[in-house]
Parts: sequence; C-alpha cells; structure tokens
Amino acid sequence: MKITDHITNIFQEKFGSAPAHLARAPGRVNLLGEHVDYNDGFVLPAAIDRATYLAFSPADADQTQLVAADFKQEVFFSPQTIPLKTQTDGSPLPEWALYPAGVMWALGEAHLEARGLRAAYASDVPRGSGLSSSASVEMAFMIAWQTLSDWTMPSMQRALLGQKAENQYVGVNCGIMDQFASACGVDNRLLLLDCRSLEWKTIPLPENISIVIADTKVRRKLTSGEYNKRRAACEEAVRLLKQDLPDIKALRDVSVEDFNRFAGKLPEEVSKRARHVVEEIARSNQAEALLEAGNIQRFGELMNECHVSLRDLYEVSCPELNTMARIAQSLDGCYGARLTGGGFGGCTANLVAREQTEEFSQSLAKGYQAETGYQPEIYITRASNGAELLK
Ligand code: GLA
Repeated sequence: MKITDHITNIFQEKFGSAPAHLARAPGRVNLLGEHVDYNDGFVLPAAIDRATYLAFSPADADQTQLVAADFKQEVFFSPQTIPLKTQTDGSPLPEWALYPAGVMWALGEAHLEARGLRAAYASDVPRGSGLSSSASVEMAFMIAWQTLSDWTMPSMQRALLGQKAENQYVGVNCGIMDQFASACGVDNRLLLLDCRSLEWKTIPLPENISIVIADTKVRRKLTSGEYNKRRAACEEAVRLLKQDLPDIKALRDVSVEDFNRFAGKLPEEVSKRARHVVEEIARSNQAEALLEAGNIQRFGELMNECHVSLRDLYEVSCPELNTMARIAQSLDGCYGARLTGGGFGGCTANLVAREQTEEFSQSLAKGYQAETGYQPEIYITRASNGAELLK
C-alpha cells in the first residue's frame, strides 16, 4: 500500500473522517561537507524520495492529538503543556513526540500561531540512519501549522525554526543542513548551501550518475551526546586558534595552511576534530567547479577522502560503515563512497555510473552481508522537492 493511503486510512480509523490535508517532507542525503554546517562551512545535500507523511485536520480545541503510526502510539499536548514537555495528563512526552512538540514550541517563541491538530504521521525515512528522519518530521509539522494559520514563511525560515526546535527543545545541537535540505529540496538537483550567509543554489546531478544509498542497518545509541561533544571541540578549537588568528569567527575562517601552522598548539583530540573540519571545508569548496567540469572522478575521490577523515579524525564512523564504504570503493562503476550524515551507524552515500548501478548494488549487498552478517538495504535515490502540502 502507498504510504499516503496508509496514513490516510489510519487517520480515518482514528478520527472517523478523512483528513483535511496531507503534507510530505523528505529526508536528505549529503554528498560533501560533513560536520561543517555548524562551522559555517559549505554543504552539498539533496532531498531524497523518502519522506514523512502527515495527515491532519484542525482540532476543535487547542489540544493536539497526534498518532505516530510507526510507533503505534499517540500523544496529547497543548500550548500549556509544551514548556513542561508533558502530555495533557501530566505524563512525559515520549522521545518521538519531542520533534512535533518542539516545532510548536519554536512557533510560540516566534509569536506565531500553531493551533491544535488532529494528526497522524508515518515515515519511510529509516530512523537513526543518517538520512534526517527527524528534520523531515519537523518540516512536515511546519507545513501543517503554516497551512492552518494565517502566516506563511519562506522555506529557509521554516528550516531555521526547525533547527531551533531541535537545538533548544529536543537538545541536539545540530546545524542547519538537514532542515534546510528537507525544506528547500529541488527535484533532480543537488543543493549547495553556504551555512554562514545561508545563500544557496542548486546544481544539476551529473549525467549518467546515480546516488545509491546503502543502509548498514546498524544504529548507534547516545549519538546526540557524541554529536554535541564534536561541536564543543570545534568551538574550543576556535577559541584557542584565536590567540594567533584573532579575526576568525568559526573554523570556516581558518585556511589549511594556517591550520597547519598552529595545530600543534591544540590538544590532540581538538586538533583532530578541527583538522577534519578545515580540510572538509576545503574539499567542499571544490565541489561546484568539479561538478560543473564533469570531473566526477575527482569529486568521488573527495568523497572517499571525506570518509577517511570522518573515520580517523572526526571519529564518527563505525566498523560496519567502514566495511560498506570499503567494499563499495572496490567495485566497478563506483566513483566515491562515504558515510552520510552524523555517523555512528546508518547509511553510506555512493556515486555510481548509472549503467553499473544494478550490478554495483547486488555486489555491495552480497559483500557486506558476507562480512558482517547484516542484511543491508540498498537503493537508488532520486533528488526530490522539499516539504510541501499534497492536499
Ligand atoms: C546531523 C546534523 C547536521 C549535520 C550532520 C553532519 O545530520 O543534524 O546538522 O551537522 O549531522 O554533517
């Protein structure tokens, strides 16, 4: 059954009528620029053809009743219970509900109306897989509340409020990339975002190339703590490097040459983290020119270098991601392969010659399963539009 029918049916069963509206917000894959968004760097994601689907109608009162089909759970919350992170009966909100509740909170902070909803949602973005399932939930709810209110805002503003929800309500100190890609995605295009100025443009996908996503099926726990630690290390690096480079505001402002000159003054771990960021920003700076020139070979090499750096310097990989990337890189037709997203499990992104995609996917699945015992999920993704109202 199509996921839109599935969620419409669940809504109908729960609330006894068809939903007034249906929203969709995609996950994302990132090709280059990993862990640089919160360092004011450049990222190159695309929204993917997997998404969160949200069926909703306005509620009569200001209480929101929300069914999460994937968890077979429901919650009730209202503007009064939002600051407490509780339901209307006083029990704590389950973790999954913090994302929609956080969006309501962020809208409240911006003095924008978010009226009560009756809603049900489901997602085919695998959770905890590095494909931004949480940003897709946030952006779907942004569309819902925008639809039922008298305000509208540009997609980037919705992304920024979603990020605020995640930073200040959920407690993950993420950058802007995921919400941006989910909000601003464009069919068949890669998105190049300057995370400092928030200026962005789209770039066509290279011809005859497929983006293949390979899910290791490994999920790590407690990733938000590790994520926040990485971000803190970057901030510490900026603080220390300022002694020699007083004008820098973020690692974006440090050239590879300057970094090499002063890295010795940093504690070892901070230096490794910062080196990844400085070099990754230098790599992502080359992306546009390489893609324009059709130099997929070199672009793919940068992806491979990115994986090594995430593995050895930023230390956000895991054995299964390394196995998946290594096997992919050894296969015919593969230009580049690396972990995508925050890391600690989840998916790799692979750039593959289109006519070899089928063979590549089969060999990768077979090789990965033989080495790890996990059955991976491997699929070609299509760059898709950002969050939208379907009905
Ligand atoms: C997570 C965060 C993003 C970004 C990536 C790493 O997906 O939500 O903001 O930092 O990790 O590039």
